Amino acid sequence: MRKLTYLIACSIDGFIADPAGDATSMFAFLDEEFLGHLAKEHADTLPTQARRALGVDDVPNTRFDTIVQGRASYETALKEGVTSPYAHLRQYVASRTLVPSPDPDVEIVADDLLGRVRALKAEDGGLGIYLCGGSRIAGELLDEIDELVIKTYPQVYGTGMPMFGGTGFAVTDFALESVRAFGNGVLIRTYNRKR
Ligand SMILES: NC(=O)c1ccc[n+]([C@@H]2O[C@H](COP(=O)([O-])OP(=O)(O)OC[C@H]3O[C@@H](n4cnc5c(N)ncnc54)[C@H](OP(=O)(O)O)[C@@H]3O)[C@@H](O)[C@H]2O)c1
Repeated sequence: MRKLTYLIACSIDGFIADPAGDATSMFAFLDEEFLGHLAKEHADTLPTQARRALGVDDVPNTRFDTIVQGRASYETALKEGVTSPYAHLRQYVASRTLVPSPDPDVEIVADDLLGRVRALKAEDGGLGIYLCGGSRIAGELLDEIDELVIKTYPQVYGTGMPMFGGTGFAVTDFALESVRAFGNGVLIRTYNRKR
């Protein structure tokens, strides 16, 4: 089975963006140490433009070969005129409204998202699947998530888009695998799903 990893940036109080979907306040923490870490350890999860800027655009994938994201998250790239934001990965965008796909390298999943994700996880070999967000799609796919990588920025939002949107109250246990702290106050925690 391939792992589904939800790797996400959030505030101390667990919001991935403000109520309008803006998370740019977190950009203030992209200093040299943290960017160096992202380039070295998380290049697979960086958009093509960021990979280019950091000089890692032709580094081979090591953790992920596939990305799944919701239409609203994909739209943040579309608004910038970018139709294939993760060109180094197989790209799936969940949407019932976006037809046809704006790019031949992006497959739109309109029906049976859960079944499609389960089929991707069941594929033989290959690397992992990067669940990019946003909030709503993460809430729908929570039961399929095997690993969480949470980049916590030292900011409180008070309100906004939760890490898992649209879910009711239910406790799901994860085991802490690692914590890394950076000089700028950012923490990266990795958790594995307890099944
Ligand atoms: N902090 C971070 O690291 C991070 C990462 C990613 C995103 N974000 C933020 O998250 C925000 C977006 O989150 P969001 O919760 O509003 O939206 P989202 O989860 O990205 O996308 C929701 C959309 O996905 C589609 N969808 C959801 N479930 C589906 C299903 N079962 N089948 C088919 N399509 C389905 C629908 O698109 P249609 O309406 O087209 O049908 C739905 O409107 C962005 O503004 C971005 O800033 C933050």
